Amino acid sequence: MSQKKKKVVLSGMRPTGPLHLGNYVGALRGWVRLQDTHQCYFTIVPWHALSSEYTNPKVIKEYTFEVALDWLAAGLDPEKSVLFIQSEIKEHAELHLLLSMITPLPWLERVPTFKEQQQEIQDKELNTYGFLGYPLLQTADIIIYKAEVVPVGEDQAFHIELAREIVRRFNRFYGKVFPEPQMLLTEVPKLAGTDGRKMSKSYGNAIYLKDTPETIKKKISPMVTDTRRKRRTDPGEPDDCPVFTLHRAFVPESKREELARDCRTAAIGCLECKKVVIEALIEEFAQFREKRAYYEKHPDLVWQIFEEGNQKAREVASQTMEQVREAMGLRFPSGNLKTGKK
Ligand code: TRP
Ligand code: SF4
Repeated sequence: MSQKKKKVVLSGMRPTGPLHLGNYVGALRGWVRLQDTHQCYFTIVPWHALSSEYTNPKVIKEYTFEVALDWLAAGLDPEKSVLFIQSEIKEHAELHLLLSMITPLPWLERVPTFKEQQQEIQDKELNTYGFLGYPLLQTADIIIYKAEVVPVGEDQAFHIELAREIVRRFNRFYGKVFPEPQMLLTEVPKLAGTDGRKMSKSYGNAIYLKDTPETIKKKISPMVTDTRRKRRTDPGEPDDCPVFTLHRAFVPESKREELARDCRTAAIGCLECKKVVIEALIEEFAQFREKRAYYEKHPDLVWQIFEEGNQKAREVASQTMEQVREAMGLRFPSGNLKTGKK
């Protein structure tokens, strides 16, 4: 049987600091699994961070390092996947520029995240050229590796759809250079943070992958549960319990169903029920914390791993760009001429 070529996967993450459980179940956990079946490229994207953090760009490097630590600790493996830093591959910028020439402005203006984020984030001027072009830069990230599969959450669906439209347009104008990337939707169970709202770094309610067992306990123990359970003897409803969103992501199904039954009959108390998810988290991340601590003590090793990834990525990206320039009629004879030195 002939070996089938592995499909190319690409996904990216903005460097926004240490990853929380929502980032983990929404992306990283699935990426780790994809590594065995696909040729994966995973990139940390400083330029995307810059599109909104341009007044305070100094934090981006530190945040990139934090994300890199979490990636390696959680099991992204440089032996299997290409792990790299987007802004170190200048070819992305060239492709972004070329794509900007063929992209009708309304395509970008109608991306829902563009208007939404502008309204939501009042303290930043986001009516910029770069912010409007955010999904176009994302398109460049994806197609420069000819990625066929892009694992992302629902919030990115429009961006991937736009990438597909741009690929079709490019291929129609200049010949088929890029495959149309497909979205691989990661089912993201909505995780509640410690205050019951959606877990988010900006709400200050997040549980981080790097949290110690004590911190995890301290964060989850006082969490509000289903408000119907005023007394231990009051039955509850797991579907209305913020803590149970964590159970859904981290407690194996059979145990989880038992807990749900016992909640509905008041056979179990909330403290006991919380203990199960606390222990599941501590166990799932035990190895993780050790690995993270090791890499944290060896930053040179981390940067070296990513530099090797950058080199692999650059090689592929520069080959694609040769094809793009050829297709668009942008390869000039001057590149092949000898200079006039005597
Ligand atoms: N926009 C993505 C996010 O905020 C990050 C990202 C940048 C990305 N480039 C990408 C995701 C390429 C997938 C593919 O989550
Ligand atoms: Fe939530 Fe568990 Fe308490 Fe039920 S028993 S309300 S699921 S913490």
